[in-house]
Amino acid sequence: MHVLITGHLGYIGPAMIRALQAASHTVAGLDSGLFDGCQLEAPAVIPSRVCDLRDVSIDDLRGFDAIVHLANLSNDPLGTLDPALTHAINVDATVRLARLAREAGVKRFLNSSSCSVYGAAVEDWVDETTPTRPVTAYGESKVAAEKRLAALADDAFCVVSLRNATAFGYSPNLRTDVVVNDLVASARLRGEVRLNSDGTAWRPLVHIRDISQAFSLALTAPADAINGEVFNVGSTDQNYRIIEVAQTVAALMPDAELIVPPGAGTDRRSYRVRFDRVKRLLPAFSCAYDLKAGVMELIREFERVSLMSTDSSVRLTHLRRLLDAGQLDAALRRRSSPTGWRIERT
Ligand SMILES: NC(=O)c1ccc[n+]([C@@H]2O[C@H](COP(=O)([O-])OP(=O)(O)OC[C@H]3O[C@@H](n4cnc5c(N)ncnc54)[C@H](O)[C@@H]3O)[C@@H](O)[C@H]2O)c1
Repeated sequence: MHVLITGHLGYIGPAMIRALQAASHTVAGLDSGLFDGCQLEAPAVIPSRVCDLRDVSIDDLRGFDAIVHLANLSNDPLGTLDPALTHAINVDATVRLARLAREAGVKRFLNSSSCSVYGAAVEDWVDETTPTRPVTAYGESKVAAEKRLAALADDAFCVVSLRNATAFGYSPNLRTDVVVNDLVASARLRGEVRLNSDGTAWRPLVHIRDISQAFSLALTAPADAINGEVFNVGSTDQNYRIIEVAQTVAALMPDAELIVPPGAGTDRRSYRVRFDRVKRLLPAFSCAYDLKAGVMELIREFERVSLMSTDSSVRLTHLRRLLDAGQLDAALRRRSSPTGWRIERT
């Protein structure tokens, strides 16, 4: 298949490129490059288009068999930057992209959604049948996009939303605003496994290569088995309280001290998720990496790339820096950016 990956220059992008290439797909990317220059190292080279999602034209999409849609403002803190902008990119531009894709003859659209739609769960366990309870603009945007995308599904256009658990694992375009990566980076750089909350909240975790594997399988799964579906991506045995994540990191990095700040508040976002549906819809799917494997990988990789700081790996901090420097306008459009196709390093 010829697959367009939007947001290929982000954290999950490099793992997605590798997984799809390994499955013999040809891939191209489309990204506005919000995190250009944040990469720890330069990985694969693929044809790509520098373009804001909001400006995509039908001609950009012709000739692709499928779209893997990653380009979004990608977490809860980013949603606080400007909730209306989060809606404009994560919902309106996403739905517009899917409509144009359908018109352009693209057959399949895989949307990267998030278990953050469960938000402040009141149930002990949640699954795809549980009402969503998002508590952030980001979570709300994921719920709205899922609903509007599902309405576009028809016999010729297969639309699926994959609700990923919280991602972890090393990427050349690392994010340290996700809990596992944050705690390992903090242990390495400051000798502290420091929580921002009391650690009681539940989170499901999934490695970025396992997310990529799920997308790869969803590209070729029979359309009638998955069309219009929403399913969680992760593993039921990879739900943790945040304090357990911290304890795992501290046990594997014994020089670091585990710190729960006195008076730390409770994170309202707490959900323990079941992942049975993904096994039913994509029978070959299983998670190859657990938390311990992910932490050990990060320790090794941080040694190899000599991680010196997290200045560029916290999405909100980086965007605030670009806004303050006038390199982005208030709508997060680059003030000066080349457009058009190019072969580049991701
Ligand atoms: N990382 C996680 O824990 C996680 C979990 C669940 C779901 N997701 C979802 O997976 C997707 C990818 O996540 P990620 O961690 O790689 O995010 P990321 O922030 O690292 O990457 C997002 C990419 O999208 C691009 N982008 C953002 N807005 C754009 C726009 N308007 N036009 C063009 N490009 C734009 C950015 O430049 C960036 O390269 C997102 O949709 C995210 O919500 C991520």
